[in-house]
This record gives sequence, C-alpha cells and structure tokens, in this order.
Amino acid sequence: MYKILEKRELAMRNTWYKIYAPHVARKVKPGQFAIVRAFKNGERIPLTPVMWNQEEGWIVLIVFTRGKTTMRMAMELKEGDSIPNIAGPLGNPAEMKKFGRILAIGAYTGIVEVYPIVKAWQQIGNNVTTLHVTFEPMVILEEELKEAVGRHIIEAVPVDMSKSFPENMKNVTERLVEKVRELLETENWDLVFMVGPTGDQKAVFEVVRKFGVPMRADLHPIMVDGTGMCGACRVTVGGEVKFACIDGPEFDAYEVNWDELIARSGYYTDMEMRAMQEYMQSLQGGGQ
Ligand SMILES: Cc1cc2nc3c(=O)[nH]c(=O)nc-3n(C[C@H](O)[C@H](O)[C@H](O)COP(=O)(O)OP(=O)(O)OC[C@H]3O[C@@H](n4cnc5c(N)ncnc54)[C@H](O)[C@@H]3O)c2cc1C
Ligand code: FES
Repeated sequence: MYKILEKRELAMRNTWYKIYAPHVARKVKPGQFAIVRAFKNGERIPLTPVMWNQEEGWIVLIVFTRGKTTMRMAMELKEGDSIPNIAGPLGNPAEMKKFGRILAIGAYTGIVEVYPIVKAWQQIGNNVTTLHVTFEPMVILEEELKEAVGRHIIEAVPVDMSKSFPENMKNVTERLVEKVRELLETENWDLVFMVGPTGDQKAVFEVVRKFGVPMRADLHPIMVDGTGMCGACRVTVGGEVKFACIDGPEFDAYEVNWDELIARSGYYTDMEMRAMQEYMQSLQGGGQ
C-alpha cells in the first residue's frame, strides 16, 4: 500500500499528490511513468512522477481531472489514505544528451511530464525554453520551471464561461500553434519536444515540419498494464507497430502515424463519458 503524504488542489482540475512509493522513487528517471491503481478493483492509469526523493522514498504525481478515475481520485482520496498499487518506473527514460537549443512544449497538464525531463536537459548543458499553453486558471509549476530552465513562457488563455470546455479548447490550440510558429520564425532551434493532447501534438508537428526542426513527442495512447502484454498502447511509428509503454513513451514526431493514434484514442469515448456521468450521478445520490 502507498500512503498519500500530502494532497492539495494545485489549480483548476489539477491535483497534487505526494505519495510514499520508495521502489519508484529509488529508480525513476526523467521520461518514465508509473501505472497507478488508485482504488481496489479500480482501473489502472498511467501517471508520471514529476518530482521524487530517493532518500525519503516519495514521489509527486500531478493529476488532471479528466474522466471517472481521475475524478474519483480528486473527490475521494484524502491525505493519510493508501493507494493499493503503483507499478513502476515503466517506459524508457528520455535521452540525456546535448541537443543544443530546445523548445519544450507542455499543453495543459502535459507540462508536468515536461518538467523532470527539461530540468535534467538544462542541467547537462542544453539551453531549454519551455512553453506552457493552457487556460488561465490551470497554470502550474511556474516557479519550478523558471528555476529549472533558461526561459519559461506561459500562454494563458481565458476561459469563456458561455462556451463548453471543448469549444474553449479550440482557443488553446489556436494560441499554441500561433506561438510555436512565432518562436520558430524568430529563433533557431535544434529540437522541439512536446507533451499534451494528441490532436495538439499533431497540430504543432504540422507547423514544426515546415521549418524542418527535429521534433520528439511523448505519446498518450490508452495504457492498461504498461508492460507490453495487453497491446492497448499500440502505435505505428516509422511504419512499424510499437508499444508506447515499452518502446516509448517518447518517439520521433516525424515517424508517428498521428491520424491512427487520434482515431484509436477515441475508441472508448462513449463508454468513458457514460462512466463519468454515472459516477457524477452517484455523487448526487441518483446513481446505482
Ligand atoms: C505515459 C503517460 C503518462 C501520463 N502522465 C500523466 C500525468 O502525469 N498526469 C495526468 O494528469 N495524466 C497523465 N496521463 C494521462 C492519464 O493517464 C489519463 O488522463 C487518465 O488515464 C484518464 O483516466 P480517467 O479514468 O480519468 O479518464 P477516462 O474516462 O478513462 O478517459 C478520458 C480520456 O483519457 C484517455 N485515457 C483513458 N485511459 C487512459 C489510459 N489508461 N492511458 C492513457 N490515456 C487514457 C482517453 O483517451 C480518454 O479520451 C499520462 C498518460 C500516459 C500514456
Ligand atoms: S499498455 Fe499494455 S502493451 Fe502497453
């Protein structure tokens, strides 16, 4: 069992969990993730250790409230509670070498996965600029990133309360693409790296490839076991079938079949929406 040492709301729909998980803290490297089963009989979801302490044995997870499991975590878990399973570290660490000038982009909570990687890249002598594009109430890790890298840019998009969340997200995508284009037009880069929703990663890639700058991306297909056994995280990269959990999660953006990845990620949307609605009804006392 993994005790929650600290839990707090970091920003809108973003929750911070400091968890005692010594076997993960001891071995994890930037770029790796863990598979977390937060409730007995609950589903397993991939989450990224954002910070950790080997001696004290804790890791920090920052979780965006997206569907049923992440909402249950935000609503039901308390400081002092224990989580049944945290498996990891899993996946491959990010490559640690001198690339030169790096533009590292995090859309929404994707910035939490960017953080440990860019911190290490900057420490080994790269010149890293981070770009966080999100909604105004969802800006996180501002101070930490300013300290960790050469330059941190925030593009915070206001939320239009008269519009739905997906409609608002279109404004974020527009701002993201505009800002990336501006940075590519005005400065020279040796590498672009991005974590965020797959549609936004594809939109950024379409801009980056026009400038011919190398780009790498951490992919977010659905994952179940995280060990290459179930096939859920299958992606096509360079015409070959890869499993994001054991071959990734980072891949060359030029080789990824983005359309297939977007289509596969939407397979379970109806079921996920239903699970979320049923959970919300149960909270209001109307569920079964
Ligand atoms: C390697 C990796 C690292 C991640 N790290 C973080 C992190 O540090 N913080 C964070 O907030 N999120 C992270 N995610 C995304 C997180 O796993 C999903 O938001 C979460 O699984 C959604 O679960 P849910 O039940 O709340 O939503 P659901 O209702 O299950 O799903 C909502 C949406 O999330 C996606 N999703 C669902 N299940 C999974 C799954 N098992 N794997 C990937 N995507 C899924 C689906 O495409 C769906 O559209 C990471 C994903 C990957 C692949
Ligand atoms: S998550 Fe099962 S094979 Fe990758």
